[in-house]
Amino acid sequence: MSSSLNFGKNWSLSLNKIPRACISQESCHLIVLGKNQEHKGHSEILELDTKDKVILKYPQKFKNYRPPPLVSALKDSAAESAASFHFPGHNRGVAAPKSLTELIGTRPFQLDLPELPELDNLFAPEGPILEAQKEAANLFGASETWFLVGGSTCGVQAAIMATCSPGDALVLPRNSHISAVSAMVLCGAVPNDINAISKICHSRKIPLIVDEAHGAHFGFHKKLPISALAQGADLVVQSTHKVLCSLTQSSMLHSSGNSLVDRERICQCLQTLQSSSPSYLLLASLDAARAQISEHQETIFNEAIELAIEAKSKIGKIPGISLLGSLNYPSIDPLRVTIGVWGLGLSGFEADDILCRDFGVVSELVGTQSITLAFNLGTKREHFLRLVEGLNYLSATLFHNCTMNRVIEVTNLVHFDDIEMILSPRDAFFASKRKVRIEESIGEICGELICPYPPGIPVLFPGEVITERAVEYLLRVKGQGAVISGAADCLLSSLVVCKKS
Ligand SMILES: Cc1ncc(COP(=O)(O)O)c(C=O)c1O
Repeated sequence: MSSSLNFGKNWSLSLNKIPRACISQESCHLIVLGKNQEHKGHSEILELDTKDKVILKYPQKFKNYRPPPLVSALKDSAAESAASFHFPGHNRGVAAPKSLTELIGTRPFQLDLPELPELDNLFAPEGPILEAQKEAANLFGASETWFLVGGSTCGVQAAIMATCSPGDALVLPRNSHISAVSAMVLCGAVPNDINAISKICHSRKIPLIVDEAHGAHFGFHKKLPISALAQGADLVVQSTHKVLCSLTQSSMLHSSGNSLVDRERICQCLQTLQSSSPSYLLLASLDAARAQISEHQETIFNEAIELAIEAKSKIGKIPGISLLGSLNYPSIDPLRVTIGVWGLGLSGFEADDILCRDFGVVSELVGTQSITLAFNLGTKREHFLRLVEGLNYLSATLFHNCTMNRVIEVTNLVHFDDIEMILSPRDAFFASKRKVRIEESIGEICGELICPYPPGIPVLFPGEVITERAVEYLLRVKGQGAVISGAADCLLSSLVVCKKS
């Protein structure tokens, strides 16, 4: 399927290359590789043709195996010996910076290709990207799936922009990710209270968006929570790069196909928000991560979940250590292990430092009182034994002589019921601003989004009145080691406030 423009006897411009390798879409059991390509995987060599291409045929037992379509297309495209006069300027690795190739080799550069015809177009997909997105929709139970190269941040923004217009109310939990707040700045929606969320959505024809950034694996094991799509959500955003195994920054946006959501508007929003030069390495990694789960979807999480359960049972017996249980939650991700260390007289930051420095244990999240570890498909027994050894060490050295001398201050972000919003996040974002000393900011309208990590919950939204309680909380968590994101002055000696008109 190629078309060409002829400019005279010897000149023609090919608009659409026929990929050199061909995957039979019907049976999907024939693949043609160029010479010098690796022969790995489920296939056996069938014959060598005159152009030195190896034709592989899958044995009967793998007859349902479908190579991930975008991964295959990328592999074939990179195997072309092309005279590349296109971006990126590293020219398929030929001019790749040495300092980086010494680190990762040239292969990632060879595969870092732009939107070549055979690789399809993210914003108007009709080839391997479309096929890969359809496979993903099928696996995750969506009516349609979009691959994202700007993380779930971009998916959350697109989902909100596609469903809210300026002035619309958005029912939003306070602990939303900052991408939801930036989406309100972009589209002009106004946050609303969460209390009535369950009553209002579908009965009032309001679309439900779920930020499932940490739950792309939900539903693939009976001990995992049910996925948001399976529970009736309309738009679901998942960071495939978090628990699943795609490359960092790659995510998916799934739609249930509910008519409450305008798919054309989603496509427009995604095109507005995403790069016009999406990385095919990121896109192919989404395709590959989907294929990895598809191949063994009933069993793939068995080992990780068993290890996490075993780890919890061992950790739960260590004196001075507490474990977050499932007591008060309808369901909890068994792959998250949250360990409280206040009983040892340690803050989460201090425990994390020791575990990292002395035991090489690196956690996912650190809090004032706890650390959270994410078990995943790569977690090995040796890893969790190291974790248990580290915690045993902390307990043995600290438990008996700690709590009498030192009590770790508890700084929970209690529900702020004194929130007063004067301007919408969008109006506050675009308002004229000034900087004031933090002590003088109380009563002013906040001009920035201030979010301490941990716990990653915004304390002040743009447009809200700054309260004494918020300032006091921010200074306290900062003193305990939290990183203050979103504030122009991350030392918090000043805050940016909106000028009153
Ligand atoms: C709840 C939540 N939503 C959205 C995001 C944004 O995801 P991404 O990093 O894929 O942009 C995160 C990131 O940590 C998150 O925790």
